[in-house]
Amino acid sequence: MWLYLAVLVGLYYLVRWHRERQVVSHLRDKYVFITGCDSGFGNLLARQLDMRGMRVLAACLTEKGAEQLRAQTSDRLETVTLDVTKTESISAAAQWVKERVGDRGLWGLVNNAGITLAWAPNQCLTKRDFVTILDVNLLGMIEVTVSLLPLVRKARGRVVNVSSVAGRLSIIGGGYSISKYGVEAFSDSLRRELAPFGVKVAIIEPSFFKTNMTNTERVLLQVQEVWDRAPREIKEIYGEKCLASYVKLLSEHILPKCNENLSEVTDCMEHALTACHPRTRYSAGWDAKLLYLPMSYMPTFLVDAIVTWGLPRPAKAL
Ligand SMILES: *[C@@H]1O[C@H](CO)[C@@H](O)[C@H](O)[C@H]1NC(C)=O
Ligand SMILES: *[C@@H]1O[C@H](CO)[C@@H](O)[C@H](O)[C@H]1NC(C)=O
Ligand SMILES: *[C@@H]1O[C@H](CO)[C@@H](O)[C@H](O)[C@H]1NC(C)=O
Repeated sequence: MWLYLAVLVGLYYLVRWHRERQVVSHLRDKYVFITGCDSGFGNLLARQLDMRGMRVLAACLTEKGAEQLRAQTSDRLETVTLDVTKTESISAAAQWVKERVGDRGLWGLVNNAGITLAWAPNQCLTKRDFVTILDVNLLGMIEVTVSLLPLVRKARGRVVNVSSVAGRLSIIGGGYSISKYGVEAFSDSLRRELAPFGVKVAIIEPSFFKTNMTNTERVLLQVQEVWDRAPREIKEIYGEKCLASYVKLLSEHILPKCNENLSEVTDCMEHALTACHPRTRYSAGWDAKLLYLPMSYMPTFLVDAIVTWGLPRPAKAL
């Protein structure tokens, strides 16, 4: 009985391995548009696909980021500046892409641009804090996607969205998880909606990686800033000691231990763009696979217990 089961499981993985190895043809004629190429995953992916001979259209927030990227890549790669929170900027970039891809359409759209702000208890935050992050991570992504979809449909291409394990598990307050839950929801509906048009949709769910987003100095600065402007009542119920433990948790245990190998993420993206049979979801990082995703399937009471145990206790907790 166990032997049959083992053979079945083995066969399943063999078939999957074989299916996933098949690569789409004519990669050199295919255009891929990537947002957030100044640094991190977007930057590495742009270089990686350029090396593979694909035609990369890289959107950067800053002209400096664009220049640096162009200096490191071939002449095929072109850049445009894009601020995903500005409708005019998105329309201009969409027009720019249209002029380049022409009748071929856009093979790949990678929604990678994202920010993180103040990982802090919700009680310390204001509506503004949430609006800022949703504007980039969710609404910006939606507008970019909707603007470019006609070109992607034309190529029967791919949409790849960068979500996060935070899109499965909401551990700490603030808008980041909310934005990524939103990305997951959108991706699921978009995947079903676009299947009839031959467009495939993939979601990447990385855990914590060393990028601009998890820069220790910046994250701690943001935490301090939120704490400084929190109402006195909030400061009293949490207490300086709780803040100190929280800063210690971030600066000693979470941020320095982020995964360093960004290729784990960009390889998933590359597979989603180049394989004949891409997956719907890719998790990247050992902790995503072994910790956060399994946790997201656990019963809520168990997750609550683990998170409560892991996070610092407020001074005036019961
Ligand atoms: C890094 O992140 C900060 C804040 O999220 C942003 O202002 C800055 O432009 C980013 N830098 C790069 C190179 O992406
Ligand atoms: C990507 O995210 C955008 C905005 O959240 C959404 O419109 C789209 O459906 C998502 N697509 C994929 C493939 O995740
Ligand atoms: C980084 O990750 C990629 C993809 O998972 C792997 O092929 C490569 O060997 C890793 N590099 C290092 C230095 O661990």
